[in-house]
Order: sequence, then structure tokens, then C-alpha cells
Amino acid sequence: MVDATTPTAPEDFDPLSMLLDQNALREPQPHYDLLHATAPVVRTQGGFYLVSRYDDTSRVLKDNALFRSPGTEAINAADPRFASHPALNMVSRSILALDGKDHTHLRKLSAREFMPRRVFDIQPTIERICTKHVDSIRIRLCDGETVDVMEELAVPFPLELIAEMIGIPSSDRPYLATVVRALLKLIEPDPTIEVVSAADHAFLELEEYLLRHIRDRRARPQDDLTSALIATAEASSESYSDDQIVLSLIVVWAAGFDTSAAAIGNGIVTLLGSPNETDAMLAGGQNESRRFVDEILRLECPVQIPPAFRYATADIEFGEVTIPAGSDVRVLLSAANRDRAVYDNPDVFCPERLGRPALTFSAGIHYCLGAGLAKAELTTILRQYALHLRHAVLVKEPDRRTSLLFRTYGEVNIALE
Ligand code: HEM
Repeated sequence: MVDATTPTAPEDFDPLSMLLDQNALREPQPHYDLLHATAPVVRTQGGFYLVSRYDDTSRVLKDNALFRSPGTEAINAADPRFASHPALNMVSRSILALDGKDHTHLRKLSAREFMPRRVFDIQPTIERICTKHVDSIRIRLCDGETVDVMEELAVPFPLELIAEMIGIPSSDRPYLATVVRALLKLIEPDPTIEVVSAADHAFLELEEYLLRHIRDRRARPQDDLTSALIATAEASSESYSDDQIVLSLIVVWAAGFDTSAAAIGNGIVTLLGSPNETDAMLAGGQNESRRFVDEILRLECPVQIPPAFRYATADIEFGEVTIPAGSDVRVLLSAANRDRAVYDNPDVFCPERLGRPALTFSAGIHYCLGAGLAKAELTTILRQYALHLRHAVLVKEPDRRTSLLFRTYGEVNIALE
């Protein structure tokens, strides 16, 4: 849907293949600079418009009148796969596909459970799970082993934390972890039919499991997220179905898993390359740690292209480019966070940096519900890592995982020198 006035990117320029290139993944700044200078709003070969400057990105995220989800029914009608595949259908019914009253209604169900007070209550659980993994890594390093911190810390930590928050017994967690991972593959742009079929299977198993879990908690409430959502739903003057509780639990699990894993891996690699800043962080108090974590999240933004549905409700001008009404519009958060118009030396890790807040957790109505929790996780892990594991070194330069959605590592192998 390009209109006649829409300038297009140069013939050979495809931002999506650029984003998937290993060199660009390793050193993205020159590529972000190129995008900002030559194609800040560009129609990609994936059929959607990609917006990458800070101010433009902020506008797309915050202007919910101009950039809206068409809603579940319209999504299903536009692409029949959303109606026929249970996993895709779950996506089109989820909070990420809703706007206005429907979005507020579903967000209210879980919002209370992610407020600062609740995050404070969860802190001892975060510390306990983190200590367990860090201790086990320390012992293995002392035994002369090489340890992949993605496999041993970044991935299992958030999985275990959310499973425990939801109230899943330890015996069921490994199986459910596989199921959640199969489901998560779905949110990469343009999933293959194999990925969609595996996600369908995963969703149906997870749905059945969680419906049973909800029935169990309704009969025997516990101190966990599932029981809290049931209580909120029952106390509310608005009505909530079990299906909406299931959807909320799945979205929390899916949204809080690979995102945090990516942030932890990115954080550890940044920390290993920044000894002076790490010393300052350890010597300083809460504020120092907070700045350190915020800057890591700006510099190495874990979610590159966030998944909420945003369609232009009118022809919208961005400088010389007009995005036609009805277009699918996506933003590149990782590039917005490194826009030279907003940040000096944007590719440098500088925790003392002042200025505008990074867009790592999005903005507007879809602002990450788990941002406070994610920061608490990352702060705890990076402090524990710096205290107990920082003498380990990278065995080799880690490779980035090829993904449009996440900026993350495949393996991060460390060993004692
Ligand atoms: C460093 C880790 C995390 C990052 C970088 C991150 C990033 C994001 C982003 C960018 C969005 C907005 C999507 C959009 O605008 O299209 C989002 C939404 C969301 N996130 Fe996070 N997230 C993280 C961790 C978590 C955690 C730990 C949870 C919960 C356990 C969580 C739950 C959610 C939920 C429920 C939404 C949907 C909110 C809505 O649509 O109203 N996230 N996250």
C-alpha cells in the first residue's frame, strides 16, 4: 500500500536483512545511523513501515488515536490464519491486540500485581533464585568448567521466577518451559507454518494446563499470581472469564521470559566490558545500580521491534514520507534508543548519562507491565554477578542470536583464567 508520493528506500536497501546480518548485530550503530539519515520511516519487504528515530518512535507509541490496533475481529478477518490457528487466535485476543476500553479492562486484571509494592514483596524470591544459580555457576567455574551463562542463568532465572509467581509446581516447570518457548517463536515477524503448528499445539496444552490450575486455585487459593487474578476478577464490578485469566497468565509468562533472558545476557556482557562502571555500581547505592541498569537497557535494548498491533488510522506524514491509512506500522526501539539527535555518543555505555528516558519498555498504553519487575531482576542479577563471578572472562566473543524481535545472545561462555 505505497502511495505515489511515498519516497521509498534505495533499491538495494532492506532494513530487515540488515537487522539480521551478524556484523550489524555485533556493531549496530553505523546501521542505525544509516537508517536515521536515509530511511527513518521506510516500507520494508515484510510489508510494514518501520520507524526508527526517537521522536517518531515516541509519536507512534504514544498517539493511540493515530496508531491503533484494528481489534481482534478485524485482525482475524484480514488474515484468516488468525481465525483458524489457536495460537495466533490467542495473539489476536491478547492485550497486545487490544485498544481503548478492551485494553484497559484486560490490563486492569493484572496491573495491581506488578505495582512497586508487589515487586518489593517478590524481591526475596528474586534473590533466592538468583543466588541458587550464581552459586552453582561459581562452583562449576572453580572446578575448571566453561559455563554458558545464557543456558545456566539468563534463561532459567526468569522462567523459574515467573513459574513460581504463577504457582506452577517445580515438577511441571521443565515441561511447561518447552511449551512456552514453542509458543514464543510465534511472535517473530512472519513465522513459518511449522512454527505456527508447533505453537498451536503448545498453546492448547498450556491452555488446558492453566484452566486446570485456575480451577485448583479457585478451590484452594494460595499466595500466588493465579489466585490474585482470580480474586481480582471475582471482586471486580466488570466481568472476567477464565479465558481472560488464562490469556493474562500466558502473556505475562511469554512477555517476561525471553525479554528478561535477553536483558540479563546483554547486561552480563556489558558488565564484563566495563570494569570501572561496575566498580562504581558496586560501591554506590540504589541510585547507582538503577542508573547502571537503565543505561544497559538503553544501550542493549532487548526488544527491538515490539509486538503490539499498530495500524495508521489516517494518512500520516513523517517529514517527506506519508504512511498511508491502514498501514501496519512498527518501531525499532533499539535504534530509537541510539538516536544521535537525542543521545551524545549513543553507542557508549555511560551510566551517568542524563537526558530523555530510553524507550526500552515502550510508551503509551502498552508500556511494559513488568518493567519494575524486570529492573528488579536485572539489578539483583548484575549485582550478584559482579560480586561473585566477575573474575571469570569470556571464552570467546559471543554471537548474537538472529532475531528481529530480540536483541540477544545465543551463548555467552565464561571460564576462570
Ligand atoms: C527487560 C525485560 C523486558 C523488556 C525489555 C520488556 C519490553 C516490553 C515492551 C517493549 C512492551 C511493549 C510492547 C509494545 O508496545 O508493542 C512490553 C509489554 C508488556 N510486557 Fe514487558 N518487557 C520486559 C519484561 C517483562 C516482564 C518481566 C513482564 C511480566 C512478568 C512483562 C510483561 C509485559 C506485558 C503484560 C506487556 C503488555 C502490556 C500491554 O500491552 O498493555 N514484561 N514489554
